Amino acid sequence: MSVALIVLAAGKGTRMHSDQPKVLHEVAGAPLLVHAIAAGEALDPARTVVVAGHGADAVRAALAAHDSVAQVVIQAEQRGTAHAVAQAADTLGDFDGDALVLYGDTPFIRPETLGRMMEARRHHDIVVLGFAPEEPGRYGRLVMQGESLIRIVEFKDASDSERAIGLCNSGVVMAPAGLLFDLVAEVGRDNAAGEYYLTDIVGIARARGLKATAVTCDESETLGVNSRTELAAAEAAFQARTRAEALETGITLTAPETVHFARDTVVGRDTVIEPYVVFGPGVTVESGAHIRAFSHLEGCHVSRGAVVGPYARLRPGTELAEDVRIGNFVEVKNAILDEGAKVNHLSYIGDAAIGANTNIGAGTITCNYDGVNKHRTTIGADVFIGSDTMLVAPVRVGDGAMTGSGSVITRDVEAGALAVARARQEVKPGFAARLFARLRAAKDTRNEGER
Ligand code: UD1
Ligand code: MG
Repeated sequence: MSVALIVLAAGKGTRMHSDQPKVLHEVAGAPLLVHAIAAGEALDPARTVVVAGHGADAVRAALAAHDSVAQVVIQAEQRGTAHAVAQAADTLGDFDGDALVLYGDTPFIRPETLGRMMEARRHHDIVVLGFAPEEPGRYGRLVMQGESLIRIVEFKDASDSERAIGLCNSGVVMAPAGLLFDLVAEVGRDNAAGEYYLTDIVGIARARGLKATAVTCDESETLGVNSRTELAAAEAAFQARTRAEALETGITLTAPETVHFARDTVVGRDTVIEPYVVFGPGVTVESGAHIRAFSHLEGCHVSRGAVVGPYARLRPGTELAEDVRIGNFVEVKNAILDEGAKVNHLSYIGDAAIGANTNIGAGTITCNYDGVNKHRTTIGADVFIGSDTMLVAPVRVGDGAMTGSGSVITRDVEAGALAVARARQEVKPGFAARLFARLRAAKDTRNEGER
C-alpha cells in the first residue's frame, strides 16, 4: 500500500519566544521538521506534503536546503488540526493510498511504531497513535472500548471521568487519504477552543459504521517540542540514544556523555572517539579512525587509519584519505589530503589539494582569500613544506619539492625544487652587546634626572 505523509507545521510555537517558526529549531544539527519527515520515511512515502503557515518561506527554504522533495501547502490562518489537514486535500486529491498525519514538532517516532500502525490499518479504517504518559496533563484522551477507539476528547472538552483516562492522543493518524479528507470536511468547530479538531474524525467515522483503533508507543517517541526547555530535552534524548547506538555498533567513546552527534553522522566500527568531540552535519568517518579530544568536524570525510586532533577543526569539503594526520590547532576547509599526508600543528589549509605523504610544517597557511575571491593551492606528493610557509594562492608546488621555513610563496614551485622566499640573514658580531650597553646607560641617566 502506498502512503502519503501530511506533516502539520503551520503553528507559530509561541512558547519558543522566537522569530523563527518552531519546526525550524534544530536538534542534532537538523530542523525538527526534517526529523519528523525522516521518521515518516520509514514507510517509504510516495508523496510528502508539509502544511506551513507561520514562516512558510523559511520552511520552504529549509526543506530545499535539506534536499527534501516535500511539497509545501499554506494554511494562512491556524484554525485547528482538521483545518490544517484539509489544506493538503487539493494537492493529494488524486492520491488513492493511505495518508499518515505527523506533527512537524514531533521528531522521534520510530519506524517500528509506524510499521505497527500500518499493520493495524489492515483491519481498521482509522489508526491513531496513542501513548500513556506519566503526566497525561492537557493531552487529548483516547476513549477505548476493547480494541475499538470510540472517540477522542480534547482535555478542554473532557468530563472528569474522561480526564481520568491515561491513554493519550499523540496526534499521529493513519487512514485512506480519500476517507481522511472526506471526514475532515465534516468536522465542525463547536468546542471549547472554537477550532476544527482533527480528533473529531474518529467519532464521525464511528457514526458511519467505520472502525477505528489505537496503536501505542513509548512516551519518548511522541515527545513534542513547545519550548526551549523541551528543545534541550529533545537534544539530550537524541544524543543519549545515538551514543548508546554507537557503543553497540562497535565504536569506542571514551567519555560518551561528552560526544555530540548530528542526525546524519556516520561512524565505522573500531573508530575511537575521545572526549568532547562535536560532529556537525554531513560527517562520515570510516572504520578504524581516531578522533582525538576537543575536535569539531562538519561536512567532511575521514578515512580508515586517519588521526584527527586533539583540538582540530574539519570544515565542509574536507576529505582525508587513509592514514592522514591532522594535529592540534589545525583548521582544514574544502581540501583533499591524500594518503599519509600530515598537517600536525597550528595550520590553516583551505581550498587545497595535498598529495600523498606530504608533510606540512607547523604554522603553514594557505592564503586562499584575496579579500574578494577564493583561490586554490595545489601541492604534490612527497613535498616538504617548511614551518611557517605562507602559500599565496593560486599557487602550485610540484612533487618532491621543498619550501624553506618562513617563506612567502607567491609563484609556482616545480617538482623537486627548493623555494626560499624570505630576507637573507645578516649577522653583526658584537653588535648586540654594544646596543645593550647603550640602552642601559640611557636608562640610568633618565632615572637620575627623576630623583
Ligand atoms: C493536539 C491534539 C491532541 C493531542 C496533542 C498531542 C487536536 C485537536 N488535538 O493538541 O489531542 O493530544 O496534539 O500533542 O488535534 N497545527 C497546524 N495548524 C493548525 C493547528 C495546529 O499546522 O491550525 C499544527 C501545529 O503546528 C502542531 C500540531 O498541528 O505541530 C498540533 O497542534 P497543537 O496546537 O499543538 O495541538 P494540541 O492542542 O497540542
Ligand atoms: Mg501541542
